Amino acid sequence: MSKKQDDDLDYETTGHEWDGIKEYNKPLPRWWLWTFYATIVWGVLYTIAYPAWPGIKEATPGILGFSTRAQVAEDIARFEDANSGINAQLASVELTEIAQDADLNQYAQNAGAAVFRTWCAQCHGSGAAGAKGYPNLLDDDWLWGGDIEAIHATISHGIRNEEDPDARYSEMPAFGEMLAEEEISQVVNYVMSLSGEAQDASLVAAGETVFLDNCAACHMDDGTGDRWQGAPNLTDAIWLYGGDYETLKETVTYSRFGVMPPWTDRLTEAEIRAVASYVHGLGGGEAPVE
Ligand code: HEC
Ligand code: HEC
Repeated sequence: MSKKQDDDLDYETTGHEWDGIKEYNKPLPRWWLWTFYATIVWGVLYTIAYPAWPGIKEATPGILGFSTRAQVAEDIARFEDANSGINAQLASVELTEIAQDADLNQYAQNAGAAVFRTWCAQCHGSGAAGAKGYPNLLDDDWLWGGDIEAIHATISHGIRNEEDPDARYSEMPAFGEMLAEEEISQVVNYVMSLSGEAQDASLVAAGETVFLDNCAACHMDDGTGDRWQGAPNLTDAIWLYGGDYETLKETVTYSRFGVMPPWTDRLTEAEIRAVASYVHGLGGGEAPVE
């Protein structure tokens, strides 16, 4: 390519010309060129300083020794360090004192909400409202007890699991093997009558007899349940499994066996106490039993 002067204009051209359109040979502005060189130098220095060139196993580490993984570990360690004092306090005070201490309680509520979202929401729902077979933790209806000690014990050891010998345990028999179909129908109608209307009112009286003979040992004579056995209150129209005729018949015929895992091995004592405080603070928490 030959450089030549454009005769008409006073510009040097590259010699390229298409259909009378000529390509000028104008140098790039100085400032632009130097910025461009600077970015190249920057780029080279950067790959020397930071992890950059891919190798077979890992990238070149860079002379500054920076790694995002180390950075995250450092951040976590810093947070744990910053919280270690309050975590130790949370893990050691009397359970009932947590709510009395404004700072500690605030910390427990926040940390507990995070634990709940990670470990409990899949069963109890992100808002803790529960689902069929998974109790609502927002209300004041408790299967096993709603004071902080009871909630702490339930969470620590779980319910009806084989992993923890201290788990809460009870088992409602499957009455399909023990009662005639007619009796089941009677007792189900009686249970329905405790909180609303029986499907067939003529069966309620007979159902009461079946109830007193077979169910009252756990659900109590008046049907209000027994927390020692995790036997639900049957009079409050709050149902773990359902209060319609079909569901009740299924519950009584086959029984239920709700299982919750223990958390002592998975969470720290401070985390368990945090989430216990959080659950206790959701609205249904009860004062300690004297
Ligand atoms: C795998 C499902 C599952 C997970 C995960 C789970 N739970 Fe549960 N939880 C249950 C079931 C099922 C019950 C009811 C068992 C029964 O029928 O007695 C229950 C009961 C409870 C109770 C007792 C409620 C009462 O009325 O006495 C509390 C408190 C509780 N869970 C808190 C938690 C907390 C806090 C977490 C997270 C650390 C958690 N649960 C994680 C399944 C689960
Ligand atoms: C040995 C104690 C025991 C006896 C006896 C017993 N139950 Fe239960 N019952 C329980 C327990 C414990 C649960 C909770 C089961 C679970 O959560 O998995 C329960 C749950 C129920 C439920 C479910 C309530 C809900 O909210 O969904 C109904 C209904 C019920 N029982 C009715 C009866 C009737 C009717 C009888 C008698 C024919 C009876 N039970 C006898 C212990 C007992």
